[in-house]
Amino acid sequence: MASTTNHKQLQDWVAQIADLTKPKDIYWCDGSSQEMDNMMAALINAGVAEKLNEEKRPNSYLVRSDVGDVARVEDFTFICSEKEVDAGPTNNWMDPAAMRDRLQGLFTGCMEGRTMYVIPFSMGPVGSHISKIGIEITDSPYVVASMHTMTRVGQKVLDVLGDDGEYIPCVHSVGAPLAEGQADVPWPCNLENRNIVHFPETYEIWSFGSGYGGNALLGKKCLALRIASAMARDEGWMAEHMLILKITNPEGKAKYVCGAFPSACGKTNLAMLTPSIPGWKIETIGDDICWMKFGKDGQLYAINPENGFFGVAPGTSMDSNANAMLSLTKNAVFTNVAKTDDGDVWWEEMTDDAPDHLVDWTGQDWTPDCGRPAAHPNARFTAMASQCPVIADEWEDPNGVPISAILVGGRRATVVPLVNESRDWQHGTFLASIIGSEKTAAADGAIGDLRRDPMAMLPFCGYNMADYWGHWLSLGEKQGAQMPKIYYTNWFRKNADGKFIWPGFGENSRILKWIFERCDGSVGATETPIGNLPREEDLDFDGLEMDAETTATLLSVDVEGWLSELPSIREYYAGFAGRTPAALMAEVDSLEAGLKKAS
Ligand code: GTP
Ligand code: SPV
Ligand code: MN
Repeated sequence: MASTTNHKQLQDWVAQIADLTKPKDIYWCDGSSQEMDNMMAALINAGVAEKLNEEKRPNSYLVRSDVGDVARVEDFTFICSEKEVDAGPTNNWMDPAAMRDRLQGLFTGCMEGRTMYVIPFSMGPVGSHISKIGIEITDSPYVVASMHTMTRVGQKVLDVLGDDGEYIPCVHSVGAPLAEGQADVPWPCNLENRNIVHFPETYEIWSFGSGYGGNALLGKKCLALRIASAMARDEGWMAEHMLILKITNPEGKAKYVCGAFPSACGKTNLAMLTPSIPGWKIETIGDDICWMKFGKDGQLYAINPENGFFGVAPGTSMDSNANAMLSLTKNAVFTNVAKTDDGDVWWEEMTDDAPDHLVDWTGQDWTPDCGRPAAHPNARFTAMASQCPVIADEWEDPNGVPISAILVGGRRATVVPLVNESRDWQHGTFLASIIGSEKTAAADGAIGDLRRDPMAMLPFCGYNMADYWGHWLSLGEKQGAQMPKIYYTNWFRKNADGKFIWPGFGENSRILKWIFERCDGSVGATETPIGNLPREEDLDFDGLEMDAETTATLLSVDVEGWLSELPSIREYYAGFAGRTPAALMAEVDSLEAGLKKAS
């Protein structure tokens, strides 16, 4: 049964988009399982989806995208603020009026011959004061099916919206109209004309030409990060690219922690980890996005605005992330993975040995010696969060969970130690603003090709990054000591042979334990020029076989390394043309003074 609404302005807007895009019909989504089945049937009929073996993986599907439409496209992603400086140097900017002209051209008649779906969705539990409602208009049944899993869809959302509630309009088209009698292709898209557009001042999203993930599921990066970050600035809260987890000690005391790590730097893995230390428990609240607002008690409370996981498939295995694997045993949609001869899925590293024969992500025969990957490196799975065996009971609490600590980090082969506690919120904001990831491993120990990815938000901040730093600082000024502690972690330190020296994954629970106990004030640390580091005796390394040299590398300050990084930090800050907060510049100076004293 299709959804209905008496929201006049919403009805008018939908009619206006239909006038522009000229679909053959309009359908209001209700979020039912029948609707999901209908979408998958349409995709099978179009030749783009296959049902997997019902016995091996009940109610699950494999989808193969166009080979050119496989990833987020940062080059075609725009932030259209009135002033260029408000988008800042890290975003692509275009004048809003000029962009509206371009969109008018692109969207005119773009849905001809297709159904226009109207998807009412809630980011966050329906009705929570932290949640936001969006309406996505799309001509892609794959997007409808994916939004069912990744967001909360249907009549219940329209009921909360009422006759005049506020929503974020999100218009999406694959950009491939069908003339009368024209045959469709399995994965329609319009690669030359991709435009992923955000108007951060009027809170609007327009996306054209791509049907893939973050480009097309507009609730995720477009709404929950780019637009939400602008709303959070305006309204005094935080929208972050962070996982959220619950950690419980052997005495049964629980804390909540979130963590910002750039794309493919381990959020899903950390959120679901199986601890290696006895008696401790980790449960999942979210694996990618976190919205935080202050409660009446002055603490930050976080919700996961999503309803499911859109996770990287390659590398995921029972060894590396059992809880992710167990989330995917049924009702899952896989995009661009390989198919086994018995109708199941496979990807690199899922099992120790590859099957003798597969059909690869492009639909071709594949054998272990063929020299091509079986799954696309950015192949992804979609599954409902409720299917995760370690999802926390309170993951849908409309009031959110109180956050005790924020982790930040990236891939750093050198310089950055295993964990470093900030002295206060301002110092933590400084550390988060300089996080980066090396694109290539520097086996010889030299600092590699470093891309700064502040707060893991480089591709996702909907306004000037320097103003975003200012927003973080202003929240700290307001709430003072009640702000969570910030920890800069690095699971990716390497030795001279290019091998990781920290085992990572489940062993990261040892670091989470130290953080938990620091929040309680029950464990020590040593003060250094970069922050507070655990001494060996402060960490639980029981049962870990690690030589003294490795331990020292992980837990000490590389004074020379940090000193040699200061010019690039100063240069990075200078790129924001005077907008970088003075407090952060002062942090660089005091870091330099401290390092010089220590050297
Ligand atoms: P997005 O969904 O793209 O935002 O990424 P994510 O941050 O959720 O990344 P994910 O957890 O999927 O990252 C996976 C990659 O990081 C894989 O290549 C993992 O093998 C690797 N990884 C995760 N945790 C660790 C760790 O503790 N140590 C090491 N060495 N690698 C890790
Ligand atoms: C990321 O790239 O950080 C993702 C995947 O989480 S996507 O939703 O496609 O952006
Ligand atoms: Mn992400």
